Amino acid sequence: MAMFTPDENIFADEYPLRENYQPQQIQERDQELEKFQNALQPVINGAPPKNIFLYGKTGVGKTVATNYLLNHLQQDAQSYDIDLNVIKQPCNNISSSYQVAVNLLNQLRGPTESVSTTGYPQQDVFNMLYRELDELGGTVLIVLDEIDNIGSNDDILYELPRAESNGYVDDVWPGIIGISNDFTFRDNLSPKVKDTLCEEEIHFPPYDAEELGAILGDRAEKAFHENVLSGDVVPLAAAFAAQDSGSARQGLRLLHKAGELARANDDREVVDDHVRQAQTELERDQLEDGMRELTTQGHLVLCAVSAFEITNVAPVRTQEIYDRYVTYAERVDVDALGERRIRDHLSELSLHGFLQVSQRNDGFHGGSYYEYELNVDLESVVAVLQEISRLEDIPTQLSEASQ
Ligand SMILES: Nc1ncnc2c1ncn2[C@@H]1O[C@H](COP(=O)(O)OP(=O)(O)O)[C@@H](O)[C@H]1O
Ligand SMILES: [Mg+2]
Repeated sequence: MAMFTPDENIFADEYPLRENYQPQQIQERDQELEKFQNALQPVINGAPPKNIFLYGKTGVGKTVATNYLLNHLQQDAQSYDIDLNVIKQPCNNISSSYQVAVNLLNQLRGPTESVSTTGYPQQDVFNMLYRELDELGGTVLIVLDEIDNIGSNDDILYELPRAESNGYVDDVWPGIIGISNDFTFRDNLSPKVKDTLCEEEIHFPPYDAEELGAILGDRAEKAFHENVLSGDVVPLAAAFAAQDSGSARQGLRLLHKAGELARANDDREVVDDHVRQAQTELERDQLEDGMRELTTQGHLVLCAVSAFEITNVAPVRTQEIYDRYVTYAERVDVDALGERRIRDHLSELSLHGFLQVSQRNDGFHGGSYYEYELNVDLESVVAVLQEISRLEDIPTQLSEASQ
C-alpha cells in the first residue's frame, strides 16, 4: 500500500484553511471596505493617491482586505489605462526605517543590482529609492504591512509621503498604505508623520462570534468533504476564537487542527470534541512558544521550579526556588541575579501563565508569603527546556528524574 494516499474522508482541499489563501470575497467587512475603497478612488480618477493607515489587532482581516482591494484596483486601472504600480513590503522582520528603505529599494532594483542592508548613509538610500520610484513613474502605492515593527524609528513614514511635494521626485505619485497590529504605534508616531500618513484611517475591530461563523463557514465549505462537519463545529470554533481574540486567523487554525485530529484518529466526522481538543493543543503550542522566548534567567527559574515539581514538593517558597536557581546558574556559568530580581521573574512567569502562584498565611508568625508551582504540565516544560542548549544538561537530568 502507498505510504501517502489522498484524503478521502476529511479534507477536500486544505488550502482554504491556510494563512495565505486569498478568498474571492471578504465577509463581514462592508463598512471598512467601503471606506478603504473611497480612499483609493483618487487613483482611478487620475489624482494623487491618499495615504492610508489601517489598524487593528492581528487576524482581523487587514492584510486580506488590502490584497483584495488592490487586486481589484490593479485590474480596473489596467482597463482605464492608468499607470499604477503596487509594491508590497512586509515589515515583520524589519526593525528600522533604514531597513524598510533598503528592502523597498532592492525590490525595485531586482537581485542583480541590490544593495547591502548596511553601509550607506540613510539619506543616500532614500535618494536611490526616489530615483527608482521616478523611473517607475505614474502612481506607486507602497504597502508597508506590520509597519509597527519599526517602532519609534519612523523617518521613512515622514520621507516617502513628502517625496513629491518636496521635489525629490518629478514623475511619480507615491502613496503609502501603512498597516499596524499595534494601536499604540499610531499614537506614538511623531506629529509630523501622523498628519500625512494618517490622512485616511481605517480601524478593523475584532470579529464577534457571528461574524467569525460566517467567515469560517465559507472556508469550511471549500475545505471539508461533504457531510464531514457536524453542525456545531463551526459555531464552536467561532465562539472560542471570539472569546479569546476575535481573530479569524485563530478560528481558521482551530478548524484546521480539529480536522487534522479527526483525520489522525481515522474518524469519519469532525465533531465538537475535536474542536475542544484543538483548542487545548493550540493553547499549549502558544504557551510553549512563549516559554521558548524567555531569557536564560527565566529558563533557569523554570528549571528550578520543575525540579521541585518532580520531587512532589511544589508549591514551594521563593527562598527555596532561589537557592536551586543559584545552583543551576553557577552550573551553566551564568551570573546569578539577586533574590529580588528572581521574585520579579517569578511573578512575570506567573503572569504569562507558566507558573501558578498562591499566597499563604503563616498563622503563628503572622506573615504571609508566596508559593509557586508549574501551571503547565511538567513534560511539556521539560521538553521545551531541553531544546535550549544554554541550559546544558540540566533539563536532561530533570527529564530523567521525572521518569
Ligand atoms: N473578512 C474576512 N473574510 C474572509 N477571510 C478573512 C476575513 N478576515 C480575515 N480572514 C482570513 O483570516 C486570516 C487572517 O486575516 P489577515 O488579513 O491575515 O489578518 P491581519 O492582517 O489583520 O492580521 C486570513 O487567512 C484571512 O484570509
Ligand atoms: Mg496581516
